[in-house]
Amino acid sequence: MNMAAAIDKPILELQNVESAYGPIRAIRGVSLRVKRGEIATVLGSNGAGKTTILKTISGIIDPRKGTVEFKGHNITAIDPAAIVQRGLMHVPEGREVFPLLSVRDNLLMGAYTRRDRDHVARDIEAVFGYFPILRERASQDAGLLSGGQQQMLAISRALMANPELILLDEPSLGLSPLLTKEIFEIVVRINRERGTTLLLVEQNANMALNAADYGYVLENGRIVMEDSCDKLREKDDIKEFYLGMKDEGVRADRRWKKKKTWR
Ligand SMILES: Nc1ncnc2c1ncn2[C@@H]1O[C@H](COP(=O)(O)OP(=O)(O)OP(=O)(O)O)[C@@H](O)[C@H]1O
Ligand SMILES: [Mg+2]
Repeated sequence: MNMAAAIDKPILELQNVESAYGPIRAIRGVSLRVKRGEIATVLGSNGAGKTTILKTISGIIDPRKGTVEFKGHNITAIDPAAIVQRGLMHVPEGREVFPLLSVRDNLLMGAYTRRDRDHVARDIEAVFGYFPILRERASQDAGLLSGGQQQMLAISRALMANPELILLDEPSLGLSPLLTKEIFEIVVRINRERGTTLLLVEQNANMALNAADYGYVLENGRIVMEDSCDKLREKDDIKEFYLGMKDEGVRADRRWKKKKTWR
């Protein structure tokens, strides 16, 4: 492989991935690529399969078909802990902080896989720089934080592992619009300042399309559209179905299904 090809190689690539829960085929042949250094997003409504995609990438679910490649290595169905070790962190839906541990101990849990432990104190300072409220609450039990603060802690805990790729499952879930905006701004800062690649799944298309560079639209377990977020924001389908903007005349009685561009 020449240098240009090596640089162009995506950090994450899914090919034809199918995952199921018993008889329920949650994702059906999903292919997507995330470039190093970008924020990519998968948009989709309830039950579309967003969480399943992330669980399959991080090894929580083994796919029935297809492959997941991270940094050019096939990581399909390998042990989740080994995937973390390779530099991929998953911030799950509903955050899942350790409620009975202090904020600081939660952060230390994020750093447990690291070998360069000397830098842990420095990195705790760095995450407090992004989320100053966590410094104020450092000794408090994480279970006493608000939902938004727990989301901040969950993202910070992932950062403590110094990952190359973070999977972020619906950071806006249950948060006020203001707090959602704040968290998205910090996610973008983390990406720009640290170069961390992010794959973000969201129902909040507005926030996700503003924060991300490239987007995929998922419906019933299938990718039905992909493009740069600038372009996706301009598409009538997206405006109407995901951004809630109805443009009389454009709409007529055309149906979403008929306009889908299948890949
Ligand atoms: N543990 C499970 N057992 C059985 N079915 C499941 C399980 N988890 C998810 N499903 C089903 O798989 C499909 C995809 O679910 P998934 O959680 O991936 O969707 P999602 O896009 O993350 O939705 P949401 O926006 O509500 O979080 C849904 O039909 C869901 O009911
Ligand atoms: Mg989900």
